[in-house]
Amino acid sequence: MVRHFRRDDDITPAEQAQIIDMAIAMKADPYAHKPLAGPKSVALIFDKPSTRTRVSFSVGVADLGGNPLIIQAGESQLGAKESIADTARVLDRMVAAIVWRTFAQSGIDEMAAHSAVPVINSLSDDFHPCQLLADLMTIREHKGSLAGLTVAFLGDGSSNMANSYLVACAMAGMNVRVATPARYQPLAEARETATRIASETGGSVLVTPDVAEALVGADVVVTDTWISMGQESEKERRVADFAGYGVTAELMAPAQSDGLFLHCLPAFRGYEVDAEVIDGPQSVVWDAAENRLHAQKALMHFLFTSS
Ligand code: CP
Ligand code: NVA
Repeated sequence: MVRHFRRDDDITPAEQAQIIDMAIAMKADPYAHKPLAGPKSVALIFDKPSTRTRVSFSVGVADLGGNPLIIQAGESQLGAKESIADTARVLDRMVAAIVWRTFAQSGIDEMAAHSAVPVINSLSDDFHPCQLLADLMTIREHKGSLAGLTVAFLGDGSSNMANSYLVACAMAGMNVRVATPARYQPLAEARETATRIASETGGSVLVTPDVAEALVGADVVVTDTWISMGQESEKERRVADFAGYGVTAELMAPAQSDGLFLHCLPAFRGYEVDAEVIDGPQSVVWDAAENRLHAQKALMHFLFTSS
């Protein structure tokens, strides 16, 4: 059976830990594994802009012995003249995997339903699971382990990052807290899934409007842009709604003194995070950006060897 990575919980908690272990091993020895030798190609489709995802997947596919094939929105028949299903049926005859950054999660699910090769979600409106593998790897590197740690996500609880944080951290046995205004709730299904998984892994889930409640004793503080790709017209309202949710040095105080700061980037200093925090000693954002490469190589290796 072909394995896909449409969302964080397409793998088991044990497989998540295995992929992070492999990512750490691949970081130490980057060219030891060549599952794409041939070279086999991997389609990288982008319906939204990208720096990290585009570069990390391109370099990662090449590191694994393969050929990255970038397809930008509007440059293929997908979406205009050809359905997702027919695109999947054509691509899977020629490539070893399909990596897609798009809008609706249902598109990712449809691509996966019709593809005979692994489909990887490289960001949808609902989830950003590749980022979470890199973020969890970064926390592992700095803290030694994941289970039992407390993560506080501040800001847009309705974002792809918040949904992925809930599910992926619950899988890792972490205590995940999301502080967000009432109108920006995570997907109910993601919150319920995370709560169910946390009850099995020893983690916990909290969604609250109260920033202080989320931050007490946090080992990791995370935020993301208040204006995700596709929401640019809502900027004014969102900036007003998220007042008080920006990560300032003062606001970091209730977190652990050795607490980490993470942000998937791109970051907007002075809005969701102050320069003092993201450019300060607790920030591990550049490690996380680099770890996109290693984590995605480990993910692809896992999907190829388990499909
Ligand atoms: N964090 C992230 O996915 O960055 P890009 O949008 O640059 O790919
Ligand atoms: N939530 C952000 C993440 C960017 C990597 C967005 O979707 O634009």
